[in-house]
Amino acid sequence: MPTNASDHDAANARPSAKLPAHPHDAQNPQAAPRAPASPAGEHPAPPCTLVIFGAGGDLTKRLLMPAIYNLAVDGLLDGGMQIIGVNHGERATEAWRDDLHDALAQFAADKASTFHAGKLDDRAWDWVAQRLHYMAGDFEDDAPYQRLAQQLEGQASGKQRGNVVFYLAVGARFFKPIVERLGKAGLLKQDGGHDKGNEGNGPFRRIVIEKPFGSDLASARDLNRHLLRFARESQIYRIDHFLGKDTVQSILAVRFANAMFEPIWRREYIDSVQITASEVIGVEGRGSFYEPTGAFRDMVPNHLFQLLGMIAMEPPNSFDAESVRNRKAEIFDALLPLKRGDVVFGQYAKGPAGVAYRDEPNVAKDSTTPTYAAARVHIDNWRWAGVPFYLRTGKRLAARRTEISVQLRQVPFRLFRDTPVDALTPNVLTLRIDPTHGTRFDFNVKVPGPVMRVGAAYSSFDYKQFFAEHANVGYETLLYDCMLGDQTLFQRADSIESAWAAVDGVLHPHGAPIPVHDYPAGSAGPAEADALLARDGRAWRTLAAGDPISP
Ligand code: BG6
Repeated sequence: MPTNASDHDAANARPSAKLPAHPHDAQNPQAAPRAPASPAGEHPAPPCTLVIFGAGGDLTKRLLMPAIYNLAVDGLLDGGMQIIGVNHGERATEAWRDDLHDALAQFAADKASTFHAGKLDDRAWDWVAQRLHYMAGDFEDDAPYQRLAQQLEGQASGKQRGNVVFYLAVGARFFKPIVERLGKAGLLKQDGGHDKGNEGNGPFRRIVIEKPFGSDLASARDLNRHLLRFARESQIYRIDHFLGKDTVQSILAVRFANAMFEPIWRREYIDSVQITASEVIGVEGRGSFYEPTGAFRDMVPNHLFQLLGMIAMEPPNSFDAESVRNRKAEIFDALLPLKRGDVVFGQYAKGPAGVAYRDEPNVAKDSTTPTYAAARVHIDNWRWAGVPFYLRTGKRLAARRTEISVQLRQVPFRLFRDTPVDALTPNVLTLRIDPTHGTRFDFNVKVPGPVMRVGAAYSSFDYKQFFAEHANVGYETLLYDCMLGDQTLFQRADSIESAWAAVDGVLHPHGAPIPVHDYPAGSAGPAEADALLARDGRAWRTLAAGDPISP
């Protein structure tokens, strides 16, 4: 996450392809676009080889390759970059390239896709395609690792300088075997000191790991221990894709680049915080993954806790990875362990938006997997003691919405005739993360007319009114940062474990299992979730399609 001066400039439209030169260009100057021209203040990542395990998978097609293409268009990749895709099954490199090309062209044309680039830029695609190489291999066999070692050794003296990022775009069961084999094949050996940049340090070797990172405290600990037998913490980049969203990174900018928020960002002024990640989609054919996982494990100790960390952390001394991660770690450490009464689980039943979860493919007819989870979380520190953070997430809900609403305390006494204090709209600052990007502030004004009456109003800001839209599938910054050696946006082992520790009591409850309540597909969730807040004298923000802050 390089922290350059802002580009507050609506005219800062997305540049057309600014592609770094390919090594072959020297021999054939007509072959491809010339030297890099990165956006002002940004520089291309160091040269490296990106090895993708799971080259044939959905993540590679939908997110990694579009992100690589976008980085190439922005001139943020080095001309010496190479990409090796490892997957089960023999196939020619040409066939892999064609497959990826067709997938990207299709997503680019699809307005509903995160990668809606319109038409693929042929020059940019060719630049990427020339660097793609396919390698068949079973992840649990030693042979592909030996072949990789030979290939990478050949590159160490070349332009890549032996720098390698191993990206594990595979199911969680392969994390341990892949890292173990990489370690045993000597592929993770690097000389010290790569925490920032690469200059003068010899080649780097890094591992990127996707979620799920464990399924509870014990499994996360076990996975961390295993990884740390073969690699150092500074080589491990644990991805939480929410941290790749510009609007999530902007939480720190809103909090710390404005004088007006920080003084009131504390228990004396804040009544409560709501964090919502609601989806209208169902499990979308992911039944076999979702059945043992459920909404709580899938979203709460990872994505929603990351939002909680960003909104609640103390100001870091700098945007250095360790400063930011230390401040977030303090929040996860200070979480009071969740108890059974702090959570509500739900599962969608047949409703206006479609079939019941139990009727989805690969889902048991008597499944008790939650597709909805709400939680009340407390941070036991000086700043937040007594302020509840309410988190909710679910599938097949009434609206797609990822947002954080910070509600301020009520004004202290009734000054306006005929308007009881509790009828005044509370001040709420809402940070909208998806699908719309911006903020909204709810406040009170005088209703025009001869009588002093108070009415609710809001003021809102939309990124696209101020800044040019930038093609972003959410993985660009993460990939770029990993190549730069900047771990700010990645999760550290200790934070992962303290997040799982806070929820372990509800994942493995004593006594009866936590009940799972039905809610109609397309509704705002189970009534029991409303009761969770009602007990505290509060209510959820409305969740309905078409309300003022819905798209
Ligand atoms: C993933 C979950 O990590 O995040 C999915 O596994 C969920 O179930 C997704 O749909 C939500 O991410 P986003 O970026 O679409 O809000």
